[in-house]
Amino acid sequence: MQHLLSMSDVKDQVFEIIELAEDLKSGKITDKPLEAKSLGMIFEKSSTRTRVSFEVGMYQLGGQALYLSSDDMQLGRGETIADTARVLSRYLDGIMIRAKKHSNVEELAKYSTIPVISGLTDMEHPCQIFADLLTIKEYKGDFNRKLVFIGDGNNVCNSLLLAGAYTGMDVTVACPEGYEPDKDIYELAKKEAKKTGSIIKIEHDVYTAVKDADILYTDVWVSMGDEEEKEERERIFKDYQINMNLVNKAKEDVIVMHCLPAIRDQEITDEVMLSSHSAIWDQAENRLHAQKAIMYKLL
Ligand code: CP
Ligand code: NVA
Repeated sequence: MQHLLSMSDVKDQVFEIIELAEDLKSGKITDKPLEAKSLGMIFEKSSTRTRVSFEVGMYQLGGQALYLSSDDMQLGRGETIADTARVLSRYLDGIMIRAKKHSNVEELAKYSTIPVISGLTDMEHPCQIFADLLTIKEYKGDFNRKLVFIGDGNNVCNSLLLAGAYTGMDVTVACPEGYEPDKDIYELAKKEAKKTGSIIKIEHDVYTAVKDADILYTDVWVSMGDEEEKEERERIFKDYQINMNLVNKAKEDVIVMHCLPAIRDQEITDEVMLSSHSAIWDQAENRLHAQKAIMYKLL
């Protein structure tokens, strides 16, 4: 039994999962291996893509998914995570959870006897990153590329760093001082990158960072849970916007990615989102194929 809480949980299976997602998307795999299986989806935070892609993906693989809002569960009234894990393991075949704290997901996994998949925590967002890798492969053909993540060194950025290290893709994080990615993940990514030859670095000057970039990637300046810092963040991140001026400083065939939701005219302009550089809508679609591959593999 295997959990997926971090990219590091599947570091030796990254290419296998991407290929599985390709085969599911192309129709090469059409079987329904999850017939009569059930996935519980616990949400402590909002979601559009994660919820819909897992629910539809589960249905397409022959199983069913249950949406469980943490507010409506006894979890919200003091039942422990451990007891919740013990009981849900008796009914379900897998749990997907979007949680405020990464440590709570680790606790859930510790007491679950079924696979636990993280659908985002404050630390990582591995399911998103499989959709991103599939998208990069479709657009660029390989991972021998330079990706520049512009903005907050958050959950998405942390998982991207590990993905870059495992696939051999160079990842530069362009962020304001004080908003760097998690220190431990950054160190781990640098260590793993030595094995694949990728370059992992942090650069505070956004124009220096985007030079020779094949992929520009961004995420919201104010993540779920950071709402109290909204005004401060909008001021600090104002020079870290993906606009056409910045896109024109990267390679001519650069693609632009965003995990979504996007806040127009903050981290990205409408013009870029709708431009020929945008891979954003294919990236969003690929959540479905990637989530199916992850469930296929783990459940
Ligand atoms: N990218 C992503 O995880 O989207 P949702 O928050 O809508 O699930
Ligand atoms: N960093 C964002 C990602 C949303 C999918 C957040 O945590 O809100």
